[in-house]
Amino acid sequence: MKNELINDQFQNIKSSSTLEINEISNNLLKEGKDIFKFGLGQSPFPIPKIIVEELQKNAFQKDYLNVSGLLKLREVVAKYHSNKNKYNYISDNIIIGPGSKELLFQCQMVIKGCLLLPSPSWVSYQPQAHFLKKKIHWIQSDKENNWHITAEKLNQHCLDNTNVNKLLILNSPNNPSGTNISDLENISQICRKFNIIVISDEIYAELNFSGNYNSISHFYPEGTIISSGLSKWCGAGGWRLGTLIFPSELSDVCQKIKALASETYSSVSAPIQFAAIKAYSNDHSDYLRKSRIILKTISLYIFKEFSSIGIECVKPEGGFYMLCDFSKIIKKTNKIYNASSLCGKLLSDVGFAMLPGKNFGLSDESFITRIAYVDFDGQKALSYLDNHKNINSNDFNYLFPKIYQGVKELKNWLKFQNN
Ligand SMILES: Cc1ncc(COP(=O)(O)O)c(C=O)c1O
Repeated sequence: MKNELINDQFQNIKSSSTLEINEISNNLLKEGKDIFKFGLGQSPFPIPKIIVEELQKNAFQKDYLNVSGLLKLREVVAKYHSNKNKYNYISDNIIIGPGSKELLFQCQMVIKGCLLLPSPSWVSYQPQAHFLKKKIHWIQSDKENNWHITAEKLNQHCLDNTNVNKLLILNSPNNPSGTNISDLENISQICRKFNIIVISDEIYAELNFSGNYNSISHFYPEGTIISSGLSKWCGAGGWRLGTLIFPSELSDVCQKIKALASETYSSVSAPIQFAAIKAYSNDHSDYLRKSRIILKTISLYIFKEFSSIGIECVKPEGGFYMLCDFSKIIKKTNKIYNASSLCGKLLSDVGFAMLPGKNFGLSDESFITRIAYVDFDGQKALSYLDNHKNINSNDFNYLFPKIYQGVKELKNWLKFQNN
């Protein structure tokens, strides 16, 4: 029933599904159930010690800081992205915000036009657009194209929808698929042709298993806004620090977002900003190298195990997610008739928490789900790599017991279902 106190676009609002699955899993854990948390994608690794120490040293910092962020921090962020993204970014065109999620929302608020979203896409882009009454155009991708849109599809979409301003969000390595976009050069040409503003969500860029840094900004810097932050690569999701990096061609947009920030969140917590200077200016290559080895090893393990019983997956290339297509192996029943009911049943039967693809813009009937493979002790795995070059398959169960056991339980459950 319609609530007259509430604006139309918020009538059906629900909590973000990733945070919700985490709460459900935690409650079940508290009740004493054995839960395999493949729902929320939070970094399993501890924040590097020198960054934590810097936060401790700066706990006394009490002043409101500059709306767009501490100058020194914006300078190091500009330097970092100028190196990685190969364009001369300047501190004036950088905004530090309370997590990239909020910054992405502010971008959507300020930038005119409809939102082009690849299907599947991260859970929050679509609801944010909905709150702003922004029209969404989904562009379908598929397994065969690594779950990313192609230049041809984007071109066709633009030819069919002329006369509208367009904002496109790309995310690579990707949540939910874990794959990288390979067609960046061709996509950038279409973006230039149709004047599309691109938000390149690079929050997982440092967790690209190959160690390479791929970005559409390498081909289309003038039309690309980079969104990133501390949450994924250095394990600091709860610190809430995100970044937006604008090319000089889009500095007007940057200025408007700054003004909006000044009327909404004011500035990011001061001690966190001081600590973030360390995060951006020190070398963390050993920590990142180890993080990538660990995540890649787990992804390959799950990929192999799932593929062996007919769950179709595309091999992840970065981050900590994977899309799993159960359509070929699941027997439909009156209790399991789509991806959502499959997730519900797996959670109640074996405590395996994952999310239906519908939360990412896929059809529920597709029987595609997303897993996040982060239910392990990141510190233990990092320490193991102090003395080992790689992860021995014999040590997998010792290092990642919940992943090992969760996968095993899921496979047993499927066997039982299908008999
Ligand atoms: C693709 C993607 N973008 C952005 C975010 C938001 O990250 P944060 O707000 O912690 O910076 C997430 C978090 O899960 C994500 O997966």
